[in-house]
Amino acid sequence: MSVEEEKEAEEEEKEVPASEKKYERLEDLPGVGPATAQKLRELGFHTVESLATATIRELEPAGIGEKKAFEVIRAARSSISVSFIRADELLKMRASVLRLTTGSKAIDDILGGGLETQTITEFYGEYGSGKSQMCHQMCVNVQLPPEKGGLGGGALYVDTENTFRTERIVQMSQHIGLNPEEVVKNVIYADAYTSDHQMFLLENADKVVKENNIRLIIVDSLTSHFRSEYLGREMLAERQQKLNKHMHRLIRLARAFNAVAVVTNQVMAKPDVFFGDAVYPVGGHIVAHTSHTRIYLRKSSRGPTRIARLVSSPYLPEGERVFKITENGVEDLSEEDKQQGRR
Ligand SMILES: Nc1ncnc2c1ncn2[C@@H]1O[C@H](COP(=O)(O)OP(=O)(O)O)[C@@H](O)[C@H]1O
Ligand SMILES: [Mg+2]
Repeated sequence: MSVEEEKEAEEEEKEVPASEKKYERLEDLPGVGPATAQKLRELGFHTVESLATATIRELEPAGIGEKKAFEVIRAARSSISVSFIRADELLKMRASVLRLTTGSKAIDDILGGGLETQTITEFYGEYGSGKSQMCHQMCVNVQLPPEKGGLGGGALYVDTENTFRTERIVQMSQHIGLNPEEVVKNVIYADAYTSDHQMFLLENADKVVKENNIRLIIVDSLTSHFRSEYLGREMLAERQQKLNKHMHRLIRLARAFNAVAVVTNQVMAKPDVFFGDAVYPVGGHIVAHTSHTRIYLRKSSRGPTRIARLVSSPYLPEGERVFKITENGVEDLSEEDKQQGRR
């Protein structure tokens, strides 16, 4: 142990973390000096929020020892109030869950008001079903003030398929009366080249999330790189393990920043189904269990009309609604559309 580290260890013993204390920077945490803070940053922990959801094992490489890691995490948790909690307190935490409008009242309706913060919402569906369009729309909507269904924050867009288009953000902003120039400044874009790069981006996202007041984190698509890189049965276990880690990282970011997390997912054909919907989302149990809310998007036989089906939610019933994707973005059907029999 260096002299510096020893000093830090002593400090840590003297200082009792106050339960409601707010820590701004890593160095403000009891027992964390500049040297430790630097090591933590190198490990990808740039903010107090990120430490609050870390595990002791993850902090091991910083060489700070189990006891100190425990204290650091505890202090970080006390600061942002993520910890072991009683059910009544859990209810309060749930009360801090906010909702983001999809742009369609019909879809918001089956979701109980919109996409939730602190959890992951997955949109899955075939190519062209509107998953990326939905993501674009969310990037705009999140910037609306809360009274208009937004979160008054920015968006982080991790793109694995190169389908993000700023022009689309501009179009959608104009339609809902936001200044496109401002809106595009609040969308932070990251192109993920490989699955490892995709993981790396989220592992190092906490700083950019905090600094840009990001309230929406999108991974579009969650599974495409994983599917193309991990081929064959023998690689499946490793792929699933990585996907699991990636999803948990996303959940943590969503909780720490009270943000909405959205992932998109492709579908595979069920070989043994001849009637009804013969597709299912890829990613297996891992993705199924870590996506809290799953929405299946599909095209209807009529032009811009789409169908959104809530397939899985922790507490809402299944439901299906019709909406459309037009030049304006994600919209409800008009009375005229309905009369024309677009359901
Ligand atoms: N500017 C636009 N105006 C109208 N519809 C659009 C526009 N841009 C995209 N779309 C619709 O969205 C579809 C693409 O959806 P997308 O979200 O990219 O699908 P995916 O589910 O594969 O991500 C297009 O086929 C088109 O129907
Ligand atoms: Mg897409």
